[in-house]
Amino acid sequence: MCGIVGILGGGDVAIPIFEALKRLEYRGYDSAGIATIDNGEIVRRRAAGKLNALHEKLGAAPLAGRAGIGHTRWATHGAPIEENAHPHATDHVSIVHNGIIENFRELRDELAAKGRNFQSATDSEVIAQLITVFVEEEGAAPIEAFRKMLGRVRGAFAIAAVFAGNDDLILAARKGSPLAIGRGDGEMFVGSDAFALAPFTNRVTYLDEGDHAAITRAGFEVFDGSGATVKRRETVSSASDAMVDKDGHRHFMAKEIHEQPEVVGHTLARFVDPTDASLLAFGANFDFKKLDRLTISACGTAYYAGLIAKYWFEKWARLPVEIDIASELRYRDIPYAEKGGAIFVSQSGETADTLAALREAKAHGQRIGAVVNVAESSIAREADDIFQINAGPEIGVASTKAFTCQLVTLACLAIKAGADRGLLSKDEQSGLVAALMEIPRLIAEALQQEAAIEKISAELSKARDILYIGRGVSFPMALEGALKLKEISYIHAEGYAAGELKHGPIALIDEHVPVVVVAPSDRHYEKTISNMHEIIARGGRPLLISDKRGIKAAGDVWAAIEAPDTHPLLSPLVYAVPVQLLAYFAATAKGTDVDQPRNLAKSVTVE
Ligand code: AGP
Repeated sequence: MCGIVGILGGGDVAIPIFEALKRLEYRGYDSAGIATIDNGEIVRRRAAGKLNALHEKLGAAPLAGRAGIGHTRWATHGAPIEENAHPHATDHVSIVHNGIIENFRELRDELAAKGRNFQSATDSEVIAQLITVFVEEEGAAPIEAFRKMLGRVRGAFAIAAVFAGNDDLILAARKGSPLAIGRGDGEMFVGSDAFALAPFTNRVTYLDEGDHAAITRAGFEVFDGSGATVKRRETVSSASDAMVDKDGHRHFMAKEIHEQPEVVGHTLARFVDPTDASLLAFGANFDFKKLDRLTISACGTAYYAGLIAKYWFEKWARLPVEIDIASELRYRDIPYAEKGGAIFVSQSGETADTLAALREAKAHGQRIGAVVNVAESSIAREADDIFQINAGPEIGVASTKAFTCQLVTLACLAIKAGADRGLLSKDEQSGLVAALMEIPRLIAEALQQEAAIEKISAELSKARDILYIGRGVSFPMALEGALKLKEISYIHAEGYAAGELKHGPIALIDEHVPVVVVAPSDRHYEKTISNMHEIIARGGRPLLISDKRGIKAAGDVWAAIEAPDTHPLLSPLVYAVPVQLLAYFAATAKGTDVDQPRNLAKSVTVE
């Protein structure tokens, strides 16, 4: 999950490349670099750390040159130090790479035996070294050397390359990681996504799997895996050229948590008619009447959204749901139903494991639905039906507004499923839609607890281990709460089904281990509160998240956060807020990098 960009410009390109890298920083941010062709020579500036380190280098020693490439890195092989930062270069060529070269060790050995000296510990450098060997030893022209390199490397990659002596050529290739070509006026661009290219152009052509392209200022030519020239569709990208800012919040995550009442309302408006609380007609081709079983798959927070939706599909549509994390589902070789559908949930639409699982399900004849935030993403392009969550750009690595927008989209799909299968009457549909229409207001109400939650989080941030427990739809909420906390505060946290506590985890309980109890006043409340009392009996410190009635009935607890009353099955749409705020304020209390936590990236495009 790195970001790559290349520009054939009318003037010097280093600064525009840097601007594009800033828009790609969400993909990885442990080191960065730019290479240009200046008077025929390859010149580079690279820096470990965030993009501001590279900016300082460029300020101290500006880069000239009308052709160039840039890269912002999330390290897979080789520490995040300057020597391992892209672009990699030899005397002949400089390259940037997103992905993993799986056979890099054998290639490094082979190239070292030919006398090639490696400057880095990365897998990516073999790309530049291979191209150089083909140029030097076989006298291959750039495009031929590039093609020969593509024939040798295995793995997932998006690559861009520039060549010494030629400032009107970028060669690019895509296999498993996204790559888009942008057409300007007398200028050309290539980048990991349309958002990076938005300041320069909205005329974007995405390469397909296995494509490579030769780009000059006059235009570009695309070749498929067999080397045949192909035409790929040029689209007008909707990506905004407005650099997303924090709107006065300390972090993007805080902004995105507070955007939820608005964006959840926007998402809902795509699927319901508020005048009569009815479902709009959508996804006609994804007809649940024709399905015997539904598979749902995703990663991380998106997976927890799917786990919550499983309860909705099974309750409202009586549709059996098989759900698994994508990195497991893709290898399980499950017996897909003859008449089966599969829904893949992904904010970025580029998560490698989710894309691989989608392809596996598609190969088994499943009808594919994609619940995504990026309409032009790889997952969207390979699905039969796209259900866009329309949450707007989510910059914070920890997913917040995308999660609640995924949930509201999945809830509308589950109601549609019940309607398609004739199991929800018009009145029942309207009842559920009316309950969904309350959600933006309830989210806003939940946000009113922010100050109280900040106080509790200051205490929570001192813990070394924290458990989250819940039942029913609050069980996936417990899993999501634990993930939110651990990924931005680095505190160890685990989510458990409350009923599982007695089967082992209760051994962890003592006065040092806070337990977050997610327990709205639903059918599981009594049992979950009994679990909570088992915790108290062992000196544990329960932090109860419930509605006013639930908190009153629970008796003494270490701490309590009040959430508004909700429809029993829709509580996760509202309880997401206290869970997000708990994690956010625990992280700010600890002083971690909330928007760009260590070791993480916003889009995991490697397996
Ligand atoms: C969530 O806070 C994490 N950033 C991570 O688990 C994320 O949800 C996961 O990587 C899936 O990403 P996607 O939705 O873009 O596929």
